[in-house]
Amino acid sequence: MAPLRQKAIVIKEDKTVVLKEVDVPKVGPGQILVRVIAAAQNPTDWKTLKTLDKPGGLLGVDYAGVVEEVGPDVPEGLRHVGEHVCGTVHGGIGPTGAFSEYLVGSAKWGVIPTPAGWSFEDAAQIGVAGFTAIQTLWEAQKGLPTPLAPTTTPIPILVYGGSSAVGFYTIQFAKLSGLRVLVTASPRNFDLLKEYGADELFDYKDPEVSQKIKAATGGKLKHAVDTISEAGSGDIIAAAFGEDGGHISQILWYPSPKENVTVHFTLAYEIGGEDFEHPIHFKATAEHQEYCEKVGKLLADILALGKVKPMPKLILPNGLASVEEGLGYMMSGKVSAQKITYRIADTPGVSA
Ligand SMILES: NC(=O)c1ccc[n+]([C@@H]2O[C@H](COP(=O)([O-])OP(=O)(O)OC[C@H]3O[C@@H](n4cnc5c(N)ncnc54)[C@H](OP(=O)(O)O)[C@@H]3O)[C@@H](O)[C@H]2O)c1
Repeated sequence: MAPLRQKAIVIKEDKTVVLKEVDVPKVGPGQILVRVIAAAQNPTDWKTLKTLDKPGGLLGVDYAGVVEEVGPDVPEGLRHVGEHVCGTVHGGIGPTGAFSEYLVGSAKWGVIPTPAGWSFEDAAQIGVAGFTAIQTLWEAQKGLPTPLAPTTTPIPILVYGGSSAVGFYTIQFAKLSGLRVLVTASPRNFDLLKEYGADELFDYKDPEVSQKIKAATGGKLKHAVDTISEAGSGDIIAAAFGEDGGHISQILWYPSPKENVTVHFTLAYEIGGEDFEHPIHFKATAEHQEYCEKVGKLLADILALGKVKPMPKLILPNGLASVEEGLGYMMSGKVSAQKITYRIADTPGVSA
């Protein structure tokens, strides 16, 4: 039985955060209550904090933990008490968030069983990055193979920003699909990214990076995932395509940078299967909800192959009491090839 009160990271009026005691959210129809064991940080956490005015909201989207309660109207056999799950919730807008001892979330959408052999700290990073990698490869791009039916034709794909969290999962999923994976990152991360499946690496700060990618692919590159989608990334990618142009999966929207280049923006929050108002107005149709179920199944099935590795973690020492420091570290642009992670039991005053 969950307690009535918990410690959680709460948004203050001045758009900073505080660790304080709040109510444990009540599980509703179609939902599960999860005891959070570990939470991972994403740029969306600080962006929501700084751009949205939701004082009192609980922050955090990515989590891994144990199902404590299954709400009404959850299909029989879908989830069970004691199950180890991981995924993402729409934190920062209301009475539930991942930087908490307990959260409520959909039993169906944005949640999967933790992969075999992964710790809770590892599984906490899957939510946004894993779902976004699926969206960028198979929703924003059309017709690419998946790890469940890989190709023997090494179609080239560029993963721009390979050392980002989304990059780590996109590289691995693309490689397992049989694609030829070209990656941009800082040279200090090249060796690491080769271990995750990058075939060829390019420094995005090299003024000739586009020409080098174009030469390496003989002007045949047509698919790119832009995991950064700012600071001129679209122009660099567009110049790496051949004469026929290509298609870019974006995670922040920008207009097509060039004739013959098409773009497609996806948003991880859409995989939550519910309506929301931030950062865009989104209405989830029944058809979309079916799609979300398929995406969850695909992500779980890919991870069940046992071939995907978690990205390196930076576990901050004091659990939720370190969130303010973690947000500051990320906002100052220091994150490089690492996932900021919090163990809830490391929080002073919280028992394991
Ligand atoms: N649409 C969505 O649903 C969605 C989902 C997830 C993320 N996002 C957005 O996507 C972005 C990345 O998120 P994330 O969690 O994957 O990021 P992250 O892990 O925090 O990204 C850190 C990495 O970004 C790389 N980087 C920074 N500036 C770069 C640039 N100009 N060119 C290439 N690489 C650069 C760094 O590479 P080096 O250290 O190698 O230089 C660093 O390893 C954020 O803006 C986030 O808000 C959107």
